[in-house]
Amino acid sequence: MITLALSKGRIFDETLPLLKAAGIEVLEDPETSRKLILATNQPDVRVLVVRATDVPTYVQYGGADLGITGRDTLLEHGSQGLYQPLDLQIAKCRISVAVRSDFDYPSAVKKGSRLTVATKYVAISRDFFAAKGVHVDLIKLYGSMELAPLVGMADAIVDLVSTGNTLKANHLIEVEHIMDISSRLVVNQAALKLKQAPIRRIIDAFASALGK
Ligand code: PRP
Repeated sequence: MITLALSKGRIFDETLPLLKAAGIEVLEDPETSRKLILATNQPDVRVLVVRATDVPTYVQYGGADLGITGRDTLLEHGSQGLYQPLDLQIAKCRISVAVRSDFDYPSAVKKGSRLTVATKYVAISRDFFAAKGVHVDLIKLYGSMELAPLVGMADAIVDLVSTGNTLKANHLIEVEHIMDISSRLVVNQAALKLKQAPIRRIIDAFASALGK
């Protein structure tokens, strides 16, 4: 049995064509089914529906052989024990710093200054501002980061930006682009040895669907 961990939403939707290229079709829609283990047209391939931030954990501990997860999640979680054979170029977005449009960011990030940043990307933010020599007080949030500057809780946020519509709707502006994000295929290293042929088949099918 080959087990693939996926999160619902954009990653799931954009993975379906890649699975199809590998001859795999998921038989149920996670948006309507309450099932967490989804069968596929291949009796020896199944899909686990997990939270995006839990995908690396399932693969690391062998709950799943493979998973698809964002570069952001891998950087925050760490990638110990995970083999990362492919950048799938799906669920593309960026991680940026955003502030209220009336906030003077250039003065606030002068070397040696101090900034309060709300984010769920604590590790990425700490590294980014440390490299700039800016002291940051980080406030960990789990979602709706855009609120923090609006209610005076933080000077800035570090969050994913795709279309920019969420920032615009909340009167925030993007002031720095930290990095580009896309989703990666991750593989449990022990599973790669024990189930080499079927896992290689999936990796190769994904790679050729991507033109690699
Ligand atoms: C992400 C992110 C922003 C939004 C950006 O949230 O946190 O809020 O998308 O997209 P946009 O630039 O196209 O408006 P998501 O919907 O993934 O949910 P989350 O709050 O759980 O991260």
